[in-house]
Amino acid sequence: MRSLRYILRHRKIDEFSTYAYRWLYSRAQYLHHRSQSHIISKSLFGIFRSLVERYHCHVPMEYLCGSAMFCNRLFIVNQHVLIPRRDSETLIHHVQELYRHNHDIQSMLEIGTGSGCLSITLSRLFPHWKINTCDISPSALRVARSNAHLYHCHNIQFHRGNLFDTHFLENTSYNLIISNPPYVSQDQLSACNYGIFHEPSIALFANPPLKFYAEIIRRAINGWLKDQGYLVFECSPFNVIPIQELLKSHFEQIEIRYDETHLARVISAKRKQE
Ligand SMILES: C[S@@+](CC[C@H](N)C(=O)[O-])C[C@H]1O[C@@H](n2cnc3c(N)ncnc32)[C@H](O)[C@@H]1O
Repeated sequence: MRSLRYILRHRKIDEFSTYAYRWLYSRAQYLHHRSQSHIISKSLFGIFRSLVERYHCHVPMEYLCGSAMFCNRLFIVNQHVLIPRRDSETLIHHVQELYRHNHDIQSMLEIGTGSGCLSITLSRLFPHWKINTCDISPSALRVARSNAHLYHCHNIQFHRGNLFDTHFLENTSYNLIISNPPYVSQDQLSACNYGIFHEPSIALFANPPLKFYAEIIRRAINGWLKDQGYLVFECSPFNVIPIQELLKSHFEQIEIRYDETHLARVISAKRKQE
């Protein structure tokens, strides 16, 4: 504990930082313990100091500890994946509600899986579904696969690919498509906290911000989504109305769901029978 006391003595810190330091110290102890056999030169204090430095550079705690909570489960995360957000649990609750009213849902596609938190949570809730999930980033897929392994999800298939490639997942169709795509525009950046700069920009930014939604809707109409199938998006409160407009001509039962802070966070719709 000498190193922790040293840091506590040499910095002006508030109660939260004291808590954070104690927590970082326990993480350093764990990493030190794990690495002892191969990295003999890395002392516990060295690991602790580097974690504290990163903490002061606003690296999110979840990256420092390598895990994040989502729907009461701990997911492995690293700098290649978006940190699962509490807001995204709104999407999970909404899918559960849709399934309560429509037991025909048996197959699902997720676009942009990241850590895999959405597909894996749904796989645990609906182990009989056939779930396909994809991401453009091979590093993100590695994390998602590790998480799926951790939670013994045997009904998920992972695909690497780009949503905008014409032949991507051709000739497949599903009862449900979900996505929390990149949707932050450059002009919203100033309203974001510093932690966001440590998250992968490929997971966050879209220019124009609606391009992922428009493409998923186009692919859904052209075959990805079965008749009467559901499309469920996470979105920002700023783009919920434009997405609603994009959905109007081919979808019905358009619903908007609000997160815990009463902001519009999820939009869903049912494909009209053609
Ligand atoms: C906002 S993150 C969502 C991650 C996770 N589903 C969640 O809710 O925490 C968007 C994900 O889309 C992936 N992505 C970005 N561009 C893509 C593309 N063109 N095709 C497929 N996936 C893409 C990113 O790598 C990232 O993992």
